[in-house]
Amino acid sequence: MAQPPHVLLFPLPLQGPVNSMLKLAELLCLADLHVTFLVTDYIHARLQRHSSFRSRFDHYPNFQINTVSDGLPEDHPRGDRFIELFDSLRRETQPLFKEMLISSESESRRRVSCIVADGILGFTFDVGNELGIPVFYVRTISACCLWVFFCLPKLIQAGEIPFNDDMDELIKSVPGMERFLRRRDLPSFCRSGNVTDPNIRLYRTECDELPRAHGLILNTFEELEGPILSEIRSLCPNIYTIGPLHTHLKAKLAARGSLQPTFSNSLWEEDRTCVAWLDAQPSKSVIYVSFGSLVNVTNEQYMEFWHGLVSSGQRFLWVIRPDSILNKDSGSRIPDDLSKGTKERGYIVDWAPQEEVLAHPSVGGFLTHSGWNSTLESVFEGVPMICWPYFVDQQVNSRFVGNVWDLGLDMKDTCDRNVVEKMVRDLMEVRKGEFLQRADEMAKSAKRCLVEGGSSYISFERLIKDIGNP
Ligand code: UDX
Repeated sequence: MAQPPHVLLFPLPLQGPVNSMLKLAELLCLADLHVTFLVTDYIHARLQRHSSFRSRFDHYPNFQINTVSDGLPEDHPRGDRFIELFDSLRRETQPLFKEMLISSESESRRRVSCIVADGILGFTFDVGNELGIPVFYVRTISACCLWVFFCLPKLIQAGEIPFNDDMDELIKSVPGMERFLRRRDLPSFCRSGNVTDPNIRLYRTECDELPRAHGLILNTFEELEGPILSEIRSLCPNIYTIGPLHTHLKAKLAARGSLQPTFSNSLWEEDRTCVAWLDAQPSKSVIYVSFGSLVNVTNEQYMEFWHGLVSSGQRFLWVIRPDSILNKDSGSRIPDDLSKGTKERGYIVDWAPQEEVLAHPSVGGFLTHSGWNSTLESVFEGVPMICWPYFVDQQVNSRFVGNVWDLGLDMKDTCDRNVVEKMVRDLMEVRKGEFLQRADEMAKSAKRCLVEGGSSYISFERLIKDIGNP
């Protein structure tokens, strides 16, 4: 009997992409494919220490994990200096990746028959192509941001970037977004005022890179990003929209009766005491605050958020990642009103089981950095958002949340206690009904796309078929 395809998955080594690619890996295991998950030693060590991925994947004899060096010293901050990480992957990891694939040729059962890699790791296509292994790319960002990346050459040609003033000027060179995309909504690196910025250099090649692959897998769904997906299809016709991945996996596990109550792909230790705290709060009364895995805030910004949250009078659960506050002033006294307000209505943790938190009935809002995983998790649970985007794709995502999908408020480019207070009140009190209704409608369509016959369900079936016959 023919062996099932053996897929090698290679995520970008950062929390968000690793999280969603692990979900994809499990979905592929459930479809009876052989799966090798390739991660850097650094990510592997963090997963071993903090996540439950090992015990979960022990259930799949068709799964294995391989590790590779990212070429950086142990104490390098990685995600904080992304371009260095990326250069090192290309320089140091690419030859190791090729060696690994060549050695897999000798073990006939486990011969890699297909590579599924993050599309930003373009070298995976070069290696796959050289060895005659088909490559499917995955981008774990939104389609709306990806489309802006695709349009970067056009934006430069039209002279729309670089720019240096009037951040509210509308952008004309991104088809489908002419009515609402402002300079301030472009990926953060477009603000550098310099087209030779290494980030611009990196992302402007996406429109040449991505169409080279057999297909492009996206963690989104048609009902959310349909019009933008049509634009991308004009350059990249074979797209698989299989999101939201985190719940796609849950739906497949539930259908088999093997859904476990909790599991984690976290690179930090989850503090589950916050779930017990949420259990004691009234329905939809808590705003959850988290800025993901890479955002750093200054001590001044931290204090603005804290004052705003306390003055809003709302209950809040706040994730403050260790070391995420720059120049933290640990010597100064915390004002009494902050300590008192936090004790009465707040709860602070280092890292939370976020999917579970967003699904908790006590949570009624999310103050987020608009990372794509966080956005999708919130959309799926019908939780309205206040967006405080930090960098890259988040500037685009937040514009869509605030002005296209109407799922919340975009607070970009301000960090002022009065604005925080007002927006939290607006989301949780003044306009609560309106936002919840809209979020609920979108959550319903997110659920529908995953059931048999739904858009993401069908797309995933097609992906499995195409991986078998690329
Ligand atoms: C980064 C970029 O910021 C993001 O914009 C891009 O789309 C992917 O890479 P990150 O900062 O990690 O991602 O944000 P996000 O994509 O939202 O992913 C964070 C993940 O960590 C989410 O899946 C979230 O559930 C999880 N998380 C976050 C926790 O489990 N606990 C927490 O306390 C905070």
